Amino acid sequence: MKFGIFHVQVALSLGLLLGCSGGDEGDGPIVPPPPAPAEYADKHMPPGWWGDAQKLEEGRKLFVGEANPDVNCASCHGKDGKPVKAGATDFRNPERMKLYSDSVWFWRISEGVPNTKMKGWKSKLSDDDRWKLVLFERSFGLSGKMWSVETNQWIDAGAK
Ligand code: HEC
Repeated sequence: MKFGIFHVQVALSLGLLLGCSGGDEGDGPIVPPPPAPAEYADKHMPPGWWGDAQKLEEGRKLFVGEANPDVNCASCHGKDGKPVKAGATDFRNPERMKLYSDSVWFWRISEGVPNTKMKGWKSKLSDDDRWKLVLFERSFGLSGKMWSVETNQWIDAGAK
């Protein structure tokens, strides 16, 4: 019995330790993002792009700074979506990712998040490039999914 409690305590402390380091990396509590403002609410992934491997690869090159050295999302968000800078959103968590519509992702990439290190990228990146980034980011936590405008949620890309 004593042995059992010891084990529980070790497991608990480990959990706390891991929980803390996760917090330092910015993976805080999951809160739904605000809705996209009117000028972004009706913007969606261009038709046919969700399954386009070429566009996805172009998005990857942008994200990691290969396409344009001035744009390096991975320097904060990590090449694999695991944040490397404190406070950067963790893109690997499907529970968080699925709360963002494609419009919200696009809006945030375009305009940034006020009072954070996340700046707006619309002056540096075309609309197409920003959509390619949405496409690539989706692959961390919602691989194989697409945003359904009809049902307002992420669905399996093959289901359409
Ligand atoms: C200098 C560091 C930095 C760089 C570079 C950066 N980000 Fe971010 N990003 C952040 C931080 C910090 C946040 C969290 C902001 C917050 O507190 O909501 C964030 C949040 C986000 C979000 C989520 C916004 C939300 O509503 O939660 C998206 C999407 C995003 N970044 C995409 C990108 C893309 C795409 C790039 C490259 C074009 C990029 N970021 C470059 C630091 C960065």
